Amino acid sequence: MTNQELIKRAEEMKPRAYAPYSNFPVGAALLCEDGTVFTGCNVENGAYSMSICAERTALVKAVSEGHLQFRAIAVTADTAEYCLPCGACRQMLIEFAPDLDVLCANKDGDYVCYKLHEMLAPAFQLQKRDV
Ligand code: THU
Repeated sequence: MTNQELIKRAEEMKPRAYAPYSNFPVGAALLCEDGTVFTGCNVENGAYSMSICAERTALVKAVSEGHLQFRAIAVTADTAEYCLPCGACRQMLIEFAPDLDVLCANKDGDYVCYKLHEMLAPAFQLQKRDV
């Protein structure tokens, strides 16, 4: 899967966004190590703080289906600026994939790529217990 293909998968999720409060639809596509892609959109709520971003939607879909290793995530919104993940999404993602490629796209499909650990350094990480 190319970066452009992953961004296209993210773009396809924007119409699924439930964003009646911000009117800011976001789409995300998370590429697993095995090539599986999980997509997500932002889902808002009238109790605003309950809203979830597109990236975390994709992540919780993946983890809840047993996928824990990730290569890249694409995120896009309808803006000329590149769409960068918020701090909460960076924190959730770095739990699983500090080396993740984060493809931040704009409405035209142009993008910049960062390593996740560059976007959140140094990050909080709790010592994991054996499960
Ligand atoms: N949002 C995302 O889904 N991902 C981002 O990377 C930035 C922000 C959502 C949250 C909220 O529903 C709307 O965009 C406006 O902040």
